[in-house]
Amino acid sequence: MNGNDAYISIRNVSKFFGTFQAIDDVSLDIAGGEFFSLLGASGSGKTTLLSMLAGFEPATQGDIFIDGQSMDSVPPNHRPVNTVFQNYAIFPHLNVRDNIAYGLRKAQLPRAKRYEMVDEMLELIKLPGYGTRKAHELSGGQRQRIALARALILRPKVLLLDEPLGALDKQLREQMQLELRLLQRKVGITFVFVTHDQEEALALSDRIAVMQGGRVLQVDTPAGLYESPNSRAVASFIGNMNFFPGKLRRNGTAGAVVETEGLGSLRLPQAPNGQPDGARVQVALRPEKFDLSVTKPDDRPSVEGRLANAAYMGERSHFYIAIDGREEPVAVSAQNRLRFGAPPGSEGKLWLSWSADAVVVLDAE
Ligand SMILES: Nc1ncnc2c1ncn2[C@@H]1O[C@H](COP(=O)(O)OP(=O)(O)O)[C@@H](O)[C@H]1O
Ligand SMILES: [Mg+2]
Repeated sequence: MNGNDAYISIRNVSKFFGTFQAIDDVSLDIAGGEFFSLLGASGSGKTTLLSMLAGFEPATQGDIFIDGQSMDSVPPNHRPVNTVFQNYAIFPHLNVRDNIAYGLRKAQLPRAKRYEMVDEMLELIKLPGYGTRKAHELSGGQRQRIALARALILRPKVLLLDEPLGALDKQLREQMQLELRLLQRKVGITFVFVTHDQEEALALSDRIAVMQGGRVLQVDTPAGLYESPNSRAVASFIGNMNFFPGKLRRNGTAGAVVETEGLGSLRLPQAPNGQPDGARVQVALRPEKFDLSVTKPDDRPSVEGRLANAAYMGERSHFYIAIDGREEPVAVSAQNRLRFGAPPGSEGKLWLSWSADAVVVLDAE
């Protein structure tokens, strides 16, 4: 994304708590209307970064711009943002309508207008007719939707969401993910969404920033991060990955080859940028990029292997294939399209093949 199109621009921001550095020189551009996620393990700095956007914490260094305006001396209540937290604190003594309308009281709107706006929000979050319910008469998912409505009714330009679905059980969480995505599309508000759940980030986001130790490792679309991770850390944080150590051989214009431990000599369709001839690299291949067959396929690279272990997972099976030159078996994932599907050649030897264009070359670590 071009920095000029950014609605939110985070420029070289660092944050220290005493001597501890929680955020280390982060720069990010977020477009208007984008569903942007901060994804990282607990302690990676997601909440700290969000708090600086909200204005609850000052940045130690760097600048934050929203809509072209520096947020440097702008207090939280004057920023065009609103925040929804994991522990959606809705007021227990107020009914749903008064909870949602809470922030509107300051705007001094007439009561009839406020109630009209609340009814619109209740339609939007699919809880029409719930206005007079009390907080304790609501499920966790319903309460979370009320918390969202309370933030959205103020029509912020940006909604900051800190693990808002974290307290919900898995089924409700997946349902709420879909609803949240549809809702965001409908209202067109920029969402900055914090999660430690990679599947959630993949399912919801236009783009994701992967964070670790206060730094941003990579920013890309979900497919970009999954198919072209820029480091072992990103590749292993999102999905599963097999890594094969190797050495890069550049052949001038003819492209490049990696001599790997396990997969033999891999011809790369495109020479990677960066690493010089002779560099130690690692080849990364996801489990579903492999195929298993009884006979050697003649149209794609392959090696001979032996089934070491298998796990039936319902919609898919995981196979672990022992190959020469490598201690750890290769993880292969196959969809169980046929009922009672078994790996081919499970009696003994089989061929492990892969699509050449799925190969990712990373720096050795
Ligand atoms: N107020 C604070 N004082 C000292 N350290 C803090 C404070 N807030 C966060 N931290 C530390 O900063 C790091 C990042 O925290 P946080 O942003 O909450 O991570 P995340 O939200 O990704 O789990 C953690 O190591 C945390 O302990
Ligand atoms: Mg957090």
